[in-house]
Amino acid sequence: MKVSVSTISIAELDVDLLFVPVTIENIDAGLAELTAAFGGAIDRAKNDIRGDGSAAIVLYPDMGTAKRIVLVGLGESSKVTLEKLRLAAAKAASVSYDVKAETVGIAIPSLDVNGDDTAQALVEGFVLGSYRFDRYRTGLLTGEAAQRLVIQTTDHDKQVRRGADRGRIIAEAVCTARDLVNLSPDEKTPTLLSKAIEKSGKKHGYEVSVWDKALIEEEGMGGLLAVNRGSLEPPTFSVLEWHPENSRNSRPVILVGKGVVFDTGGLSLKPTKDSMDSMKSDMAGAAAVIGAIEAIAKLDLPLYVIGLIPATDNRPGENAYVPGDVVKMHSGKTVEVLNTDAEGRMILADALSYASSFYPEIVIDLATLTGAAVIALGDFIAAVMTNAEKGAEERLADIMQAGAESGDRVHNLPMFDEYNEQIKSTIADLKNVGGRGAGSITAAKFLEHFVDYPWIHVDIAGPSFIAQAKGYSQAGATGFGVRLLTRFLQQMSEKKR
Ligand code: BES
Ligand code: ZN
Ligand code: ZN
Repeated sequence: MKVSVSTISIAELDVDLLFVPVTIENIDAGLAELTAAFGGAIDRAKNDIRGDGSAAIVLYPDMGTAKRIVLVGLGESSKVTLEKLRLAAAKAASVSYDVKAETVGIAIPSLDVNGDDTAQALVEGFVLGSYRFDRYRTGLLTGEAAQRLVIQTTDHDKQVRRGADRGRIIAEAVCTARDLVNLSPDEKTPTLLSKAIEKSGKKHGYEVSVWDKALIEEEGMGGLLAVNRGSLEPPTFSVLEWHPENSRNSRPVILVGKGVVFDTGGLSLKPTKDSMDSMKSDMAGAAAVIGAIEAIAKLDLPLYVIGLIPATDNRPGENAYVPGDVVKMHSGKTVEVLNTDAEGRMILADALSYASSFYPEIVIDLATLTGAAVIALGDFIAAVMTNAEKGAEERLADIMQAGAESGDRVHNLPMFDEYNEQIKSTIADLKNVGGRGAGSITAAKFLEHFVDYPWIHVDIAGPSFIAQAKGYSQAGATGFGVRLLTRFLQQMSEKKR
């Protein structure tokens, strides 16, 4: 979608649909202005505007240039949040999609929030709300996403332009992640996924190197190789690198994404309904890392960032790893496998242990790791955990803030040492399951054994893939994590100014 900023008056803006968010305080003045431009239809709609943004009113004006007007109430202007703006814009996006509006205008409301943040949130909400995954549909589509979005403002157009650009870049990166997660599993084998990463690197200007199975063997990534044993497809390990000359950090930030391209559970086979049937999304962590690196490259963020993506599927093939196998991991530690469905931690542990060779400033991993995270926090919030290395409290505060501001919300779970008891093995250094209680925490405690740097673990099993459309996400992939990571890295680069 092309996004631009214009200072043409709303009366003269030539668009198929003009979206006007209205705050309660601005109902009288704002609607008077609109009535002057578009006629009495606006005035008559006044009493139907609800403050909570729950309804979009569609009008066909007799005067003015815009063909349709969509009004969405924002409530009290002092209580408008970035998320409310995104949700309001998503309402307009869904009307635009249904009526196949090609060009859409958004009139920027004047709020307490900064002009650029307002513009960013509106563009994010609109672009994300316009997203549909139509790759596999044949025949006529029920709607069509807008091709051009014009942000209309009366002043501060420089700020607004900056925010609008940022919003477009970030929303497009979220859509990259959504596309990858929504893709049919047979189109994203580890090799195909790594090809997609190479293509993304070329397009967005970051470096990519892909390890094949021979290299993975040479590096001794026993966890990744064990999970891959039941597969007909070889694993890959992709290394993404964004290293601009003006980087403000000398030790890299490393992002690790779980890339299980399909999780059957392996020999510890999952049931199909409400379980295996959504496991094409088990590479949503990888998708989020790819999207985030695309975004920071396009935003030209002055930070040295590396992405690591171990990729394989998890299947019960003839040679599949079995409960009882003891695996020698990349770090040299041994793991007794007691459930082949706890495969995510096996491949992440190797990537986290390899990350150590870069002496990273911080490592963040994103993974659809445990069903327990969904039980704990539901479908909309990811679980975050961090290790006790120095700066733990600040790290946690930073990621929570990034979550709240970006809309990819997270909440923390504890990492008390007692949880380690649950993953002690009778014959190896660790076992890969921790029993019924606190499944997300014991998974994180497992990973902690492979980490010797400041580290944040984000379990995105809940919010990465949803059964029903909500807000600016359709059913299916949400692209969760792209905005969280991008915001976190933006904050970090600001702090280093
Ligand atoms: N990919 C799943 C976790 C998952 C569950 C993601 C639901 C998204 C939605 C993971 O590999 C898994 O199977 N975890 C097991 C771990 C258990 C065997 C210790 C789980 O959560 O049941
Ligand atoms: Zn699994
Ligand atoms: Zn999995």
